[in-house]
Amino acid sequence: MIPGRGAVFFLVAALLASCTAAPRHEPHFLPKIESAIPLPPSFPAPVTPPDNRFTLQKAELGRYLFYDVRLSHNGTESCASCHQQQFAFSDHRPRAIGSTGQQHSRNSMGLTNVAYRRTLTWADPKMRLLEQQVLVPLNNEHPVELGMAGRYELLLQRIGSDPRYRALFATAFPGEEKPITIDNIARALATFERTLISARSPYDRLVLNGDSTALSPAAWRGMRLFFSTRLRCSSCHGGADLSSPADGQQFQNTGLYDRKTSRKMDPGLSGKSRSRGDVGKFRIPALRNVAVTAPYMHDGSTPTLSQVIDDYAAGGRAARLSGKRPGRGVAVRPFTISAEEKQDLIAFLDSLTDQSFLTDPRLGNPWSAVAEHEAGSSRAGYKIRP
Ligand code: HEC
Ligand code: HEC
Repeated sequence: MIPGRGAVFFLVAALLASCTAAPRHEPHFLPKIESAIPLPPSFPAPVTPPDNRFTLQKAELGRYLFYDVRLSHNGTESCASCHQQQFAFSDHRPRAIGSTGQQHSRNSMGLTNVAYRRTLTWADPKMRLLEQQVLVPLNNEHPVELGMAGRYELLLQRIGSDPRYRALFATAFPGEEKPITIDNIARALATFERTLISARSPYDRLVLNGDSTALSPAAWRGMRLFFSTRLRCSSCHGGADLSSPADGQQFQNTGLYDRKTSRKMDPGLSGKSRSRGDVGKFRIPALRNVAVTAPYMHDGSTPTLSQVIDDYAAGGRAARLSGKRPGRGVAVRPFTISAEEKQDLIAFLDSLTDQSFLTDPRLGNPWSAVAEHEAGSSRAGYKIRP
């Protein structure tokens, strides 16, 4: 277990105490959440909308929903199908595949510290709230993701017919006569997403704890390169998550495609802003846990970190492939880097991996613990009911 420090995130006692009403929802159905998820001292409390204050009960309900395939029309996918914990809540596919088999045009994003993103998704300046974003995979028809457009009644009926959910909703939204609503599903999912906090990588041990032995010599050299004026990685990837810094540009064009020759290129930010200058601009992604979220970029078109670096060194992939200078609007500039330096930079990116986040059972699938119990497994030490 992660030692507790800072704000207390999970306090299961309150949840358990109020679960006695439903017949099948006995306390021991819940996987044990022994200690708190600590918020690192340097992390502020995530911003939450006024009508969805953070509570542990909502987060726990959200966890059940996040891993529940009943959220997809045909029962094949949940949020976790495309956002898997072992890959920092991304999915290892170049582009996501929805519940009916349709391919998404974009790469599933990792959800590490997603509570701190100023805007959500690859290129949408107006998508700001996790509560709002939940409705996208539920309703999307191009492509179909969870396939729930026009099927809210079915979803509410499915959820409402499970006594476990009736208890969890009553606890998460006390005093509400009919707590099982789409808005509350969105609130609970968003609250769970705000618990996806990661700050225990070797890099954090250096930055937060001042542990100068946390990084290998190679990673240390790579860090200096990352923040150097030659490579300029940190001019875009800044702040605690090495994403777009609070006061900087959020969307940039890294020159993956040549806009003159790539007909089918994703318009990126210009798809929303309708401004020609925004063609090919995407949100600067956070780099925490980036070593486990391959393949890379908005369309998963770059398979490895090694290739990411080669592309940047050439001033963008389009420039590398054509041998020409970066095109108009491309914000990256070519630089030289030796093979050894490249390995150092990769070692630094590897040092951003927080193993505890990838394996923390409190962020994992609660249904597997339930199933284990219902199958009468004695692993957890529960009494088997007749
Ligand atoms: C079919 C795969 C798929 C499913 C199912 C899915 N997502 Fe996603 N998710 C994606 C893709 C692809 C993106 C990027 C979308 C874009 O940029 O247009 C994304 C983006 C996100 C983001 C934005 C992250 C960021 O850093 O901005 C959040 C949050 C998110 N998903 C949460 C969820 C939740 C909650 C669910 C369940 C209700 C869910 N997703 C279901 C594929 C999926
Ligand atoms: C001009 C701003 C800018 C600079 C400079 C920059 N990046 Fe990026 N980076 C981005 C943007 C924007 C994306 C997403 C592009 C896309 O998906 O089309 C990105 C994507 C990435 C990704 C893929 C992450 C993912 O989840 O798919 C990695 C890794 C990365 N950058 C590392 C670096 C490194 C290392 C450097 C320095 C050599 C660097 N970046 C320099 C803006 C920048």
